[in-house]
Amino acid sequence: MSHDDLRSIERVCIVACGSSYHAGLVAKYAIEQWAGLPTDVDIASEFRYRNPILNERTLTIGVSQSGETVDTLQGLRAARERGGKVLVVSNVVDSSMAREADGVLYTRAGPRWGWPPPRPSHPDRGSRALGPRPGPGTRHARAGEIASLMDQLLALPDTLEAVLERTKDVAEVAQELTDARDFFYLGRHVGHPVALEGALKAKEISYVRAEGYAAGSSSTAPSPSSSPAPWCRGGHAQLPLGEDVLEHRRGPQPGSDDRPRRQRRRRADRRSRRPHAVVPAVDPMLAPVVDALPLQFLAYWLARPRHDVDRPRNLAKTVTVE
Ligand code: G6P
Repeated sequence: MSHDDLRSIERVCIVACGSSYHAGLVAKYAIEQWAGLPTDVDIASEFRYRNPILNERTLTIGVSQSGETVDTLQGLRAARERGGKVLVVSNVVDSSMAREADGVLYTRAGPRWGWPPPRPSHPDRGSRALGPRPGPGTRHARAGEIASLMDQLLALPDTLEAVLERTKDVAEVAQELTDARDFFYLGRHVGHPVALEGALKAKEISYVRAEGYAAGSSSTAPSPSSSPAPWCRGGHAQLPLGEDVLEHRRGPQPGSDDRPRRQRRRRADRRSRRPHAVVPAVDPMLAPVVDALPLQFLAYWLARPRHDVDRPRNLAKTVTVE
């Protein structure tokens, strides 16, 4: 896929499953903000059962760690049949999806540790790797912004190392939540897919009841047993995300401009005395990469007392034939 091909794109459809779907939801914010292109995100198993309107100026992006998940593969085939161009983001070089795509971006994140391992199916087309080059096709992002984001992207391994060094804090959070039965994760903007992802990992690995909610619709959540979200973001007044959001929803209190701030401080004080995890501050658009990590550890530590975390029972996900 050439840069001219990319420049001709007018609309983007992302198809994926599970965690990859949540990554696609984050990508929607980034593509709409930086490239100014309208972007849809579909759960792959649903994509071909609606009537997606695609043409040669539509780019369908399949996101899949394994590159083998059959629903995503079928979705990409459906997109191609409708005349769209297909780009795959995958961690596995020469996976089935990569072979059928017009272009591939490899995440090169190393082998996935999980069970069962991906099962490859058969090749039929060649494909070509694309380098991650922000270039002339970028419509809305400014050069300075791109440079700063690239710096932060390159620093992400160190940032993630810093998070990994503090997983003990997450274990303490999990310890406090040992008796909790239901888990509700709240997030706004790119924090919403992070909340969905946190809940997915809790379900997949810990088998607890977990739901992710858009922060604005948290009032529809049943009374949570572990609310607000048990982590807080460095550089953002050290507030748990959930409480920050609730403050916004209530708005300023009449007759006392300072009250919300004092309430926030009191809550932050209370919060700082309870187990919590703090993650490093990064550009909000990159925050999901950082925030997903403690949530994965939370699922892990919640699972540990319950069963063998290395053999989750419901993850025969790779190739499900209909
Ligand atoms: C499950 C896994 C995720 C994975 C998803 C889809 O939800 O827990 O980690 O992203 O399946 O698999 P794929 O290989 O297509 O990303």
